[in-house]
Amino acid sequence: MERTFIMLKPDAVQRGLVGEVINRFEKKGLKLVGMKLIQVDRALAEEHYAEHRGKGFFEPTVSYIMSSPVVAMVWEGKNGVALARELMGATNPANANPGSIRGMYGMDISRNVIHGSDSVASAEREIALYFRPEELADYVKAGEEWLSE
Ligand code: CDP
Ligand code: MG
Repeated sequence: MERTFIMLKPDAVQRGLVGEVINRFEKKGLKLVGMKLIQVDRALAEEHYAEHRGKGFFEPTVSYIMSSPVVAMVWEGKNGVALARELMGATNPANANPGSIRGMYGMDISRNVIHGSDSVASAEREIALYFRPEELADYVKAGEEWLSE
């Protein structure tokens, strides 16, 4: 089982897409283990996007995720990191599979609805940035036995 960090960005919250996106993760079979609505400050936003420091889109992206509340979540499942990236679709909604979250709900790369960790190492780093260990739930979810052998 892998855990991944997912953020519903300000556009998702403002556009009322929180329930839609959570629904897709739940229906796929991933398990929600942490969730909170937060206002990200500059220090956290810059740490979140640290790998992009120096790029042209760094400052606009950092400013953007601070501009309005976001929903920070941790989802768990078999191959969870890659699976969540599949559900999200390509970074630029214009290139995203039309059935993916970004493909269905996004119009522009700077307002692409959702963030998801790109590797297991990134997931560990990002989860630790947003959640204390005691904020993550360890539980058996009803129906887990129907998802895989
Ligand atoms: O979010 P993802 O991992 O798919 O993409 P990224 O390459 O790690 O970029 C992080 C975020 O920066 C993207 O989700 C976009 O919101 C933003 N970005 C942008 O506005 N313009 C770009 N040319 C590239 C990224
Ligand atoms: Mg990324």
